[in-house]
Amino acid sequence: MLTPYQIILKKREGGILSPEEIDYFIKQYTAGKIPDYQASALLMAIFFKGMDDGEILHLTRAMMSTGTIVRLSDVPGCKADKHSTGGVGDKISLMLAPLAAACGVKVPMVSGRGLGHTGGTVDKLEAIPGFRTGVSIPEYKRILKQVGLVMSRQSDHLVPADRKLYALRDVTGTVESVPLITSSIMSKKLAEGIDVLVLDVKVGNGAFMKDLARARALAKKMVQVGRLYGKKVAAYLTDMSQPLGREVGNWNEVVESVKMLRGESDADDIVELTIKLTAEMISLCSGETRASASQRVKRAIESGAGYEKFLEMVRAQGGDSSVVENPAKYRMPRVVVEVKSPESGYVDSMDTFKIGMAAVKLGAGREKIEDKIDPVVGITFLKKVGDRVNAGDVIAIVQANDEERAKSAKADIKNAYSFSGRKCSRPELIKERIA
Ligand code: URA
Repeated sequence: MLTPYQIILKKREGGILSPEEIDYFIKQYTAGKIPDYQASALLMAIFFKGMDDGEILHLTRAMMSTGTIVRLSDVPGCKADKHSTGGVGDKISLMLAPLAAACGVKVPMVSGRGLGHTGGTVDKLEAIPGFRTGVSIPEYKRILKQVGLVMSRQSDHLVPADRKLYALRDVTGTVESVPLITSSIMSKKLAEGIDVLVLDVKVGNGAFMKDLARARALAKKMVQVGRLYGKKVAAYLTDMSQPLGREVGNWNEVVESVKMLRGESDADDIVELTIKLTAEMISLCSGETRASASQRVKRAIESGAGYEKFLEMVRAQGGDSSVVENPAKYRMPRVVVEVKSPESGYVDSMDTFKIGMAAVKLGAGREKIEDKIDPVVGITFLKKVGDRVNAGDVIAIVQANDEERAKSAKADIKNAYSFSGRKCSRPELIKERIA
């Protein structure tokens, strides 16, 4: 007879878990028959001892089969999704999903909430008044057929094992592990009913994977698992050593995304990355070249087709599109403070983890599972790596709802910047493609 204790000991000693052991542990934990403290111990053992390819595959399968596997064969067309391993200011999904849909790809997107210092697409979407991310499977299919995209959160039926494990990992220091991230992401993506998956694996001081070698290992593993399940998968290693775009914070990021979809963005990084990842999705679906797909994405921005798709999706999911069209109607933060540069020179680096934590402390993320998100708080970055600054220039603006938190965020943001007298280059945004 299998026991959780023996399984934990086996992994602690570096043993290879059998498919039966993995299956037993995941099923029993999901059913509430194994307590969190034993699951935490196993997670920590996996964190330190790792898993071989077979174990990762079995873990992914075991997690996936705790819930419904959505069948989308009755939805015509190629179904594609994108998933990021998590970053600060990473709002790419909000632009990519409607742009891909405007180019004819069906996008059934299941996203997550913020994890640790990183933001989550679901929290951003829920900043839109009335927007429902919790849709039933029939509704998910209906919206997908009607609009061409649906952006939902993980329901109780889709990989419930990951819902529990994700929350546990968040508070037990077991997020940054190749087998655990691979099984978490791939179990959800494989259960969604997609044909194509594009992975954005973040690397840098604001990512879970701080160096290129680990990010590459994670990307390769996820691509391999996706392929074994017959999906077309490509992964990109992209920079997370400074926030993406200019805005961090849930409503701020919706507004920044809408601006991009209207063709009004001055944030080159979000424009470049969105076009790259959307084109990859289209190309994997249609077989056309990535260069030609990029042109189509650019046209969908210029013509406003992506923006129209976004509004259509917001309405279909109960959101108030008039606020999206006119963000001035949204409630304002009560306290706005400027962060000024203490010296002249160039922005040399930004501690993106610190920035993510400052946003969480402001209320843009959760410190405890039960915390409520404040959608209006955030940070606007006027200066980023490589930019020239003079002492006293405003480098960032903090939007808060109380004086204390504003003061603390201001100090954290100031400390997150470092400066140099010498001109420094911007970090390379797209580092590698793995396919
Ligand atoms: N995103 C996920 O869905 N899971 C992880 O483990 C990390 C990022």
